[in-house]
Amino acid sequence: MASRILTAALYALSLSQPAIANPLVNLAPRATSSLDTWLASETTVARTGILDNIGSSGAYAASAKSGIVIASPSTDSPDYYYTWTRDSALVVKTLTDLFRNGDTSLLSTIEAYITSQSIIQGVTNPSGSLTSNGLGLGEPKFNVDETEFTSSWGRPQRDGPALRAITLIDFGQWLVNNGYESTAASIVWPIVRNDLSYVAQYWNQTGYDLWEEVDGSSFFTIAVQHRALVQGSTFAASVGSSCSYCDSQAPQILCYLQSFWTGSYILANFDSSRTGKDSNTLLGSIHTFDPEAGCDDTTFQPCSPRALANHKVVTDSFRSIYTLNSGISSGSAVAVGRYPEDSYYNGNPWYLCTLAAAEQLYDALYTWNRLGSLEVTSVSLAFFEAIYSSAATGTYSSSSSTYSSIVSAVKTYADGYMSIVEEYAASNGSLSEQFDKSSGSQISARDLTWSYAALLTANMRRNSIVPASWGETSASSVPATCVSTSATGTYSSATNTAWPATLTSASGSVTTTATGSATTTGTTTSTKTTTSTSSTSTCSLPTSVAVTFDLIATTYYGENIEISGSVSELGSWDTDDAIALSAADYTDDDHLWFVTVDFTPGEVFEYKFIRIESDGDLEWESDPNRSYTVPAACQQTAVTVSDTWR
Ligand SMILES: *[C@@H]1O[C@H](CO)[C@@H](O)[C@H](O)[C@H]1NC(C)=O
Ligand SMILES: *[C@@H]1O[C@H](CO)[C@@H](O)[C@H](O)[C@H]1NC(C)=O
Ligand SMILES: *[C@@H]1O[C@H](CO)[C@@H](O)[C@H](O)[C@H]1NC(C)=O
Repeated sequence: MASRILTAALYALSLSQPAIANPLVNLAPRATSSLDTWLASETTVARTGILDNIGSSGAYAASAKSGIVIASPSTDSPDYYYTWTRDSALVVKTLTDLFRNGDTSLLSTIEAYITSQSIIQGVTNPSGSLTSNGLGLGEPKFNVDETEFTSSWGRPQRDGPALRAITLIDFGQWLVNNGYESTAASIVWPIVRNDLSYVAQYWNQTGYDLWEEVDGSSFFTIAVQHRALVQGSTFAASVGSSCSYCDSQAPQILCYLQSFWTGSYILANFDSSRTGKDSNTLLGSIHTFDPEAGCDDTTFQPCSPRALANHKVVTDSFRSIYTLNSGISSGSAVAVGRYPEDSYYNGNPWYLCTLAAAEQLYDALYTWNRLGSLEVTSVSLAFFEAIYSSAATGTYSSSSSTYSSIVSAVKTYADGYMSIVEEYAASNGSLSEQFDKSSGSQISARDLTWSYAALLTANMRRNSIVPASWGETSASSVPATCVSTSATGTYSSATNTAWPATLTSASGSVTTTATGSATTTGTTTSTKTTTSTSSTSTCSLPTSVAVTFDLIATTYYGENIEISGSVSELGSWDTDDAIALSAADYTDDDHLWFVTVDFTPGEVFEYKFIRIESDGDLEWESDPNRSYTVPAACQQTAVTVSDTWR
């Protein structure tokens, strides 16, 4: 089976803040300025790189149908000018994360993708059809004109329907939360229901893994299938439906998931020809990260002892086999590939795998900060020892110096993986699929859409911007006995794709001037012009927008948090005029500070949070400054910005 065709310059913070000359600021974590600078431009390259690869207005995807995500513009050696269900879902999940965080111009692209998937689901293909018990949903790839791909391939691949469901549910939940329940129920749910039905019926059968090589049972696939059914059940209820087959199968998928734990790392596939050490497992952990979960081992949360032990084993497996990694000692970041036995293009590091290694650690940092402590267990000890030689088992409160030292070491380690991607990216920012294990030059498919999505998600997590919870805390109880099982859901073609011309609501919403329209012929005409400050006849901009700043910050009795920024509403960087946050909702489990401030629509500003010690001393957050653009959208009068203390 062919493979998937298949330094930081330190600078003193005290120099960068006006109006404050407090020695405490020098104690804040140092920023890696060259990486920060690179990421500031690379995130723009990545966002553009994704949109260039989406039909039909994307620069490299002109012949693709509206909303169809191509894997890469490369049409030969290798030919990736196709659309994969997995890659597309992961890419649009990233766009949805950006959208939920204020990048409202992505709305029409997300809608066009959803419309395209309603069509793709109905295309009869070599795996089967929608009406043959949903078997066609397991088909991994299609032609960009939404027709079936008929050559031989590693099929079926059962992660695709699960990932697509997760992406659609994420957007669907946004619709529900913003007053568009009927749109979620009529357009999104019918597509999601097919995919959930597929997962519930076939999760306990073998299929090809995400690298399209091993026909068996794969950690990544099983992990995302569990998540999809858990989220699916909640989403079903929120659109006035239910998903009994989700409820009956999810616990059993979780039960089976436990069998991938070897005792020292996560087995990627039950396949005796390989060690099973594989980035598959890093990806499984980050794509099932739940920011409201703790460091739970049963779902292999990024900060769980199991997932951290696995991070070390997987990344170490690449240290000795790539020339690029020679001389880099354990505990320092290396270039990461798919799995050590890989021979595709002679086996090289991949950008998306190296980025996954970083993202898992940023996820862990987020959770430790939220919990206010971290735990070193006998399972994770080797991971911690590699980056902090005096690590010992125990639980460390965020007030302890050990906690600070470990967190700082993990941050440096995570940034190291990002810096490797920076080092081997093209000078114009392009990211292909792989970089040569000896020369570091880009190889295989150019401008890989998934590489760009991986860059953006890792960067978001680095900035403590996390995805919505999928309900892990209510779905982590493992049944006492695992059984082979299956349940039958509902398959029916999702024909309604008539998106409302204007999405508006009282909170956190956007408007769009034109979107994909209903079609049964695949000739959707979708215009990608979207929101901006322009008004339509049904739209008027609010006079002010109430921005609520939610900040996760662990504080002690007597400490307070304020926000200071570049505009008068935030005191124009004068700390005497900074705005105090409230701890009224701060609990042991949720270290939340918040304040709501009114701004003018479209206002752009920079800001930081400040910690006020009980003796009145001030501590600024670490650089860079945060920045925000107040939404300027029809009737949008309120929005919430979620941050975590840096
Ligand atoms: C943050 O903003 C302040 C005020 O404009 C500026 O002096 C400082 O250089 C900024 N910090 C960074 C890291 O850009
Ligand atoms: C089906 O589930 C049972 C029980 O967890 C497990 O032993 C078996 O390996 C699974 N088979 C596949 C193909 O998933
Ligand atoms: C970078 O250059 C390569 C080769 O000229 C080109 O294919 C790619 O599109 C460029 N990428 C960007 C982001 O400009």
